[in-house]
Amino acid sequence: MRFMLTEALQPGMRVGRDIIFGKNASMLYKGTLLTEKYITRLCNGGYYGVYVTDPFSEEVEYGEVVDQRLYQKGVEAVEAEDIGSIMDVAAQIVSNLLKEEEVALDLFDLRSYDTYTFYHSMNVAVCSAAVGRKLELTEEDLNILCLAALTHDFGKRRVPKEIINKRGKLTDAEYEEVKKHPSYTYDMLYQNPNIPAKVRQAVLCHHENENGSGYPFGKAGDEIPLFAKIIHAVDVYDALTSKRSYKEPYPAANAFEYLIGGKNILFDEKIVDTMLTVIPMYPPGTEVLLSNGEKALVVAHSAEPDRPIIKVFETGVLVNLEIDSHYMDIYVVKSGAVLTDYVNKVEQLNENRGAKNWKRETIMVVDDSAMSLASVEKILGEEYHVCTFTSGVDAICYIKENGSPDLIIMDIEMPGLNGMDTIRALEKRGNLSAPFIFFTATCDREVVILCKELGAVDYIVKPVRPVYLAERVAIALKRYRDV
Ligand SMILES: [Fe+2]
Ligand SMILES: [Fe+2]
Repeated sequence: MRFMLTEALQPGMRVGRDIIFGKNASMLYKGTLLTEKYITRLCNGGYYGVYVTDPFSEEVEYGEVVDQRLYQKGVEAVEAEDIGSIMDVAAQIVSNLLKEEEVALDLFDLRSYDTYTFYHSMNVAVCSAAVGRKLELTEEDLNILCLAALTHDFGKRRVPKEIINKRGKLTDAEYEEVKKHPSYTYDMLYQNPNIPAKVRQAVLCHHENENGSGYPFGKAGDEIPLFAKIIHAVDVYDALTSKRSYKEPYPAANAFEYLIGGKNILFDEKIVDTMLTVIPMYPPGTEVLLSNGEKALVVAHSAEPDRPIIKVFETGVLVNLEIDSHYMDIYVVKSGAVLTDYVNKVEQLNENRGAKNWKRETIMVVDDSAMSLASVEKILGEEYHVCTFTSGVDAICYIKENGSPDLIIMDIEMPGLNGMDTIRALEKRGNLSAPFIFFTATCDREVVILCKELGAVDYIVKPVRPVYLAERVAIALKRYRDV
């Protein structure tokens, strides 16, 4: 069985895993022969991909903790805000997990993006409980964690849909409204005496960041309850790996890159490390491209998250990347759909944004290292207009003459005028109207406080991780993106 993008499906292929169709929840059962009609329905329904079976992928091994029926039950309970059923589903997820000796969440869920919120809550619940189990929480606590995860975004429905789905930048008032959703959830749950206080605390803090930059309170480190930390990291992981109106899903490995980049800044390090042990970086059935140019299918995981067991497409040979001596220096460079380039990325991007009236945002990057500038340009250049400067003085001159960019990325440690002084100088002259992000090589408490005092929207620790940088830039420009 392997995961295949909807665009790549061909009539005659067989469904490898039950698919729930749309809101009326009809099923397309495992083993069904795909016809042109089914494929069109899957495409139109917003499905990113499905599992199919073929002789090549016979060896693929996977574990299923939650079957599609329980999934469906959970989705319906969340949609109906039916606390009784939600508690049942939570108990069932936990009991399923406790039965397994080693938990691995191998399968992508097969959802369409129309039903994002309800599926999202169910995914977050399953992953959170799996992380909780690995952390050896008691059964009672796992139930609480699961209940909190299933209800965490209830309050979102009180936020106007236009704001949640808005593509452009949010206004101050709109952003303030988004930030209220955890408190709305808290209030909704407060009305039910059967819900433990720990659940309310967890939902209230599920957007708090380790460094205190989250909302609603700006709590940091140990002030954030453990269950909130788990839901927070899993929540972001699920948002990144889902198809949304403004983006294609990230492969699991890229989502992990974001989580790892955000360790100790956004996320608790221990939670991210635990997630890496229960959610595979390269789930079985995924296509991968290797550094030697070979393309392969992931068959199973090994003890090392980034060295799975694979089957090479061209030769059909099975290779365990963890131990095979011929592949010692070979690594996975890309995962997801690597066999075919289905869409021209830039074209697709412009189309998504309504190409005609879309203007590329300008990002100014100031860094004394030419190598660092080149790598940032490579990461952001396709999507934005990037202008680079090697000194603060040059950047100040540019802004004076050409006006403000849409975002500034400023290295702190530079000879001559350092990044913080450059920002101060721009501010003094009244030339600082763009949001700015700092690059820093050291991330101690002092630097963090200084960044905050100066009004930086974010800081990024070097060496830069491409996915982390791209996503933080998108968030800074829009202010909020559902991660
Ligand atoms: Fe949320
Ligand atoms: Fe969420």
